[in-house]
Amino acid sequence: MKLIGPFKQIITLANLPLRGKLSDDQLEIIEDGGILMEDGKIVQTGNYEKLKTVIPHGNVSLHLEYTEGVQICMPAFTDSHTHICFGGNRANDFAMRNAGKTYLEIAESGGGIWSSVLQTRIASEEELLESTLERINSLIFLGITTIEIKSGYGLDVENELKMLRVIKKTQALTKATLVPTCLSAHLKPRDYGGTTQEYLHYIVDEILPKVKAEDLAKRVDIFIEKSAFQPEESREFLLKAKALGFDITVHADQFTPGSSRIAVEVGAKSADHLEATIEEDIEYLAYSDTVATALPGASLGLGEKFTPARKILDSNGILAIASDWNPGSAPMGNLITQASVLATFEKLSTAEVLAGITFRSAYALGLEDRGKLEKGKKADFVTFKTDNFQNVLYHQGSLKAAHVYIQGEKVQAHV
Ligand code: NIG
Ligand code: FE
Repeated sequence: MKLIGPFKQIITLANLPLRGKLSDDQLEIIEDGGILMEDGKIVQTGNYEKLKTVIPHGNVSLHLEYTEGVQICMPAFTDSHTHICFGGNRANDFAMRNAGKTYLEIAESGGGIWSSVLQTRIASEEELLESTLERINSLIFLGITTIEIKSGYGLDVENELKMLRVIKKTQALTKATLVPTCLSAHLKPRDYGGTTQEYLHYIVDEILPKVKAEDLAKRVDIFIEKSAFQPEESREFLLKAKALGFDITVHADQFTPGSSRIAVEVGAKSADHLEATIEEDIEYLAYSDTVATALPGASLGLGEKFTPARKILDSNGILAIASDWNPGSAPMGNLITQASVLATFEKLSTAEVLAGITFRSAYALGLEDRGKLEKGKKADFVTFKTDNFQNVLYHQGSLKAAHVYIQGEKVQAHV
């Protein structure tokens, strides 16, 4: 058994509900705390001095790992929506957007998702692996130890499988948990001759069976939007993907409303974006078990409004917050900064933000073994050199993580 501490404060997030609003006085804060763990899992949290006196059963001895200086500790974060496997760069989209060009104008002049597809298709597996791993490491550096990664810049059998194989290979090179998602339905590729509906059939017939056979992803995503896939063909596609055994997640209501309803109707694990969700659809979503995922990085990247996170929580929905890190709409890649800014604009409590980037976002990925520091959960946690947890979001991401632990082992040291 190992005891890590002492920590000035441990914010355990224990006993918080999966859904609905939270106030900061619901947070369990252990002063001068320690974390007792075995085989990468938490045995107990509590007062450090008291835990030191716990007599290990049998011949097991208690290993003490001391923390230096004043630190606080909380569960490590889960980023449940990223597109960090990509080739190239879209800085020119940023410049064109700021020069007043529309989404369609940018796409027509060689930018947009299609430009990332071309740049990703020409990247070798080695190049993609190296750049993806670099991005994973920068996320770990922020305290994020569970990362969802989508395909969606390949858009044909060869290149979608290339992306998903790279993600699978990357898993062997990192201690973070990677959750791959097949997003072949990101856009109909320009070199596909048929209709969007035919392209969706092609994904079901040609791509998903191979993804399944090679066990490359257990989740399927689609971008339902005027410029991508239409509601009815998307519903049919998602039901087929579900029948093949995939979990479902949807890029929903980013610019136009309506698709979050489809996500709920097909029993999606999450509906992500929701910047344009109308009032009655917020209610519909909040009443369901589909997690509503806000992506403030996309709002900041595109200059669009934020997801109505406050209303979702007040309606008793399950709110997660993720980075959407991608080369086009959300190139920042700093979930802590983005979640802090969302809190300011949407009036979210610290408890709501922390829940949204820990156990609630993990739930969106079907992972209920992490995101709270309580008995039996994974000992994935992050520490900060400060005496008060409020400082983490207050500094909007500029207070860097001091140490990151994955299954009780320190993976990142930053002084
Ligand atoms: O989540 N909305 C669609 N897909 C991404 C954008 C990806 C891109 O622009 O490359 C998103 O924002
Ligand atoms: Fe996205």
